[in-house]
Amino acid sequence: TREELENRVIEVKKQLGSRLFIPGHHYQKDEVVQFADATGDSLQLAQLSAENKEAEFIVFCGVHFMAETADILTSDQQKVILPDMRAGCSMADMADIQQTERAWETLEGIFGDTILPLTYVNSTAAIKSFVGANGGATVTSSNAEKMVKWAFEMKERILFLPDQHLGRNTAVNLGVGLDEMAIWNPINHELEYEGDFSKIKVILWKGHCSVHENFTVQNVHDTRSQYPDMKIIVHPECRREVVELADMAGSTSYIINAIEKAEPGTAWAIGTEMNLVNRLIQNHPDKKIISLNPHMCPCLTMNRIDLPHLVWSLDTLEETNNIIKVSPEIAKNAKLALEQMLIHS
Ligand code: 13P
Ligand code: SF4
Repeated sequence: TREELENRVIEVKKQLGSRLFIPGHHYQKDEVVQFADATGDSLQLAQLSAENKEAEFIVFCGVHFMAETADILTSDQQKVILPDMRAGCSMADMADIQQTERAWETLEGIFGDTILPLTYVNSTAAIKSFVGANGGATVTSSNAEKMVKWAFEMKERILFLPDQHLGRNTAVNLGVGLDEMAIWNPINHELEYEGDFSKIKVILWKGHCSVHENFTVQNVHDTRSQYPDMKIIVHPECRREVVELADMAGSTSYIINAIEKAEPGTAWAIGTEMNLVNRLIQNHPDKKIISLNPHMCPCLTMNRIDLPHLVWSLDTLEETNNIIKVSPEIAKNAKLALEQMLIHS
């Protein structure tokens, strides 16, 4: 029963104390989040991993790239465990390392040494390693502006992997024109841009988050006409048109803070993953909160981590095969890219 499962988690946590650390991303289910030792957005979870020196077992309740990041930032003695190995991220899967190396060769052919790669942390360790090896850095939704600014201090143009929307939204906020942005299409290996290539400042990898692409301009218009006083807050993985029409945009922690700070009686439509929206609805009965898309948008891979998987991984800590271990060759440069971000955050 659910109660038995919950009691088992409580028991193991008590037994292991600080030998066990359970980080949980804000998109995790309530049944899992209730047992997290810490919750956070991607940046906070990376920072927590970098700081944690004592946990032998880090049972990561989030998706694969987050667990890889935790492994890269912790020591070899610390084991990072993902309760369900199928908990990937469809966006991270949109850039593989072969495609990236091929793209880079072509782009260097066009732009020479004027280009710096940046990757959203929602990417494989191999991509982070490629970026680190080429002097670039990782970014998250909470520091993307800072990191893109930093990149422009180093080079004239950037390649932003793998989320075109976060890349575009960030660049627009920094004053880069849409006519200064090109798209790299990894499927047909082509730079999509009409005009003189020398004008290009940002090359956006053609990837996206299938959860956040479900929030549409139509959703914004419907919300505005039904609830004229409602504030709209979205994650920057949403399309530019949606972010532009919204009142606010930011990382999952930014969204949570905004709702926590809001006055009682205020009304909010939120454009992000369903578990987080539902939690905010539950935790703030004094505010009117709805999902920007009434059909709700779950992240199926985040949802693969559930209470039974958590219990199973806690029961098999010593002999588990669900260990996330990035090879030392990849980890070395991936760590450079992550550290470059952490020192700027
Ligand atoms: P945050 O860094 O804002 O938590 O976002 C992570 C993510 O995967 C959003 O889809
Ligand atoms: Fe990846 Fe989107 Fe899920 Fe975030 S919400 S983990 S970007 S698929």
